[in-house]
Amino acid sequence: MNSQLPASVHQTPLDEAIERVLVDRETLQARVLELGRAIEEEYRGRDLLLISVLKGSIIFMADLIRAIRIPHEIDFMATSSYGAAAHSSGVVRILKDLNKPIEGRNVVIVEDIIDSGHTLNYLLRILRERQPASIRIVTLLDKPDRREVAIDVNWTGFSIPNEFVVGYGLDYNEIYRNLPYIGVLKPSIYAHPIP
Ligand code: IMP
Ligand code: MG
Repeated sequence: MNSQLPASVHQTPLDEAIERVLVDRETLQARVLELGRAIEEEYRGRDLLLISVLKGSIIFMADLIRAIRIPHEIDFMATSSYGAAAHSSGVVRILKDLNKPIEGRNVVIVEDIIDSGHTLNYLLRILRERQPASIRIVTLLDKPDRREVAIDVNWTGFSIPNEFVVGYGLDYNEIYRNLPYIGVLKPSIYAHPIP
């Protein structure tokens, strides 16, 4: 059990924790298909390496790569930001690095959501030092109102309002990633203090 959450969270059906659905399953699938096809067009006949930023982007990544019908490779990276769960401090730690060098490669970073932009800003800085041929960014969700550092995003699934969302890979304290849609959590879930 997740010791950071009260037992009631585990006893509540997932759907009942959601106040409202922001992006439903069908809308997600249709948009991910469009993003995949756009990336496919861009890299047809060229090298392509997709880098998924764990863990939030895993479901997006899994659907996205099946919408990209050209040969490509994938790799994974995991970061954690210090500080409170719901706000990025800008200080990022690499928990898992890429398996292979990216020098000379065409890289596309696959993100779940861009909020303040600090995580991606840091990631871009360290990946550029490795001298890839190019780096582009695809994000499923964007909260433009929250941006603290400018980020050049090449493909965005959905721009969303400044609300904390879960599902389709995104979590609240590691829970709710398995919801098949993007939803806004009920305030009662937030009411539980996080130690
Ligand atoms: P940033 O560094 O502020 O851009 O934070 C980006 C990271 O914060 C994302 O990759 C998520 O892990 C997390 N995050 C930001 N907003 C949300 C949200 O609404 N739901 C779930 N995770 C979020
Ligand atoms: Mg993330």
